[in-house]
Amino acid sequence: MDKPVYKRVLLKLSGEALLGGSSFGISPDVVDLIAEEVKEVVALGVQLGVVVGGGNIFRGTEANIKGIDRTTADYMGMLATVINSLALQSAFESVGIDTRVQSAIEMKEIAEPYIKRRATRHLEKGRVVIFAAGTGNPYFTTDTAASLRAMEIQADVIMKATNVDGVYDKDPVVHDDAKMFSKISYLDVLSRNLKVMDSTAITLCRDNNLPIVVFNLGERGNIKKVITGQSIGTVVGS
Ligand code: GTP
Repeated sequence: MDKPVYKRVLLKLSGEALLGGSSFGISPDVVDLIAEEVKEVVALGVQLGVVVGGGNIFRGTEANIKGIDRTTADYMGMLATVINSLALQSAFESVGIDTRVQSAIEMKEIAEPYIKRRATRHLEKGRVVIFAAGTGNPYFTTDTAASLRAMEIQADVIMKATNVDGVYDKDPVVHDDAKMFSKISYLDVLSRNLKVMDSTAITLCRDNNLPIVVFNLGERGNIKKVITGQSIGTVVGS
C-alpha cells in the first residue's frame, strides 16, 4: 500500500486551476477531478487543509489598475475565494469527503468562522478543512494565507499546485531551454525572483522552516505522488 510521507498537509490551489479550458469561472470537471484526487489521499489517513485563490473570478491587482482602490479590490478577491471554497466543498462532499469551510471574514450563514483550534479538531477527525477568504486582510495574497494557515495548523508541508511541473530557472512557457530544479533554497527563490509564491509567503516559510513542494496539478495522480514521497516537482527548503 502507498504510505504517506506527510501526516498533515496544506494544499494551495490557484483560482486559475479551476478554470479548465475557460477564461472565467469554475469548471465542474476540474473540481470533480480534484475531489477524486483528494479522496485518494484522505483515504491514506492524510490530514488535509486547502487554500484556494480567486483569480478565476476576480483579480484584485488588475482591478486596482482599472480604478478600484486596492483595499476594496482585495476584499472582492477574498470573496471570490469563498465562492471557490464552496464549489470545492460541494465537489468534495459529493464524493464522500467530510469537509468544513472556515472563512477568515465572518459570514456565518455560509461558512464557519476561522478558529484555529476548531480547524485542528476537524483535521484530527479526518475532515478536510478549506480555508476561505485569504488571511481576511487586504495587501496579502492567498499564497501568504496558505503559508500562515500551514504554520497555524502545524502542517508538515505546503503543496503548491501549478500548471507547470515545478520551479524553473526561467519561464518554461516562453523559453524552451528552461531548466527545472528538483530542489532549491528559499534564499535562491527570493534572490532570483522566481515566481513560486510571493516573497511574504516564501519568507514566512523560510522563517519557520516549512518546506514547499511545487508540482503540476494537471497530471492525474500528482497529489498522491507528492504525498507518498515520489520525487516529482520542486522542493523549496533551506
Ligand atoms: P464536531 O464539533 O466535531 O462535531 O464538528 P461539526 O463541524 O460536525 O459540528 P458542528 O455542530 O459545529 O457543525 C455542524 C455543521 O454546521 C458543519 O457542517 C459545520 O461546518 C456547520 N457550521 C458550524 N458552525 C457554523 C457557522 O458558524 N456557520 C455555518 N454556515 N456553518 C457552521
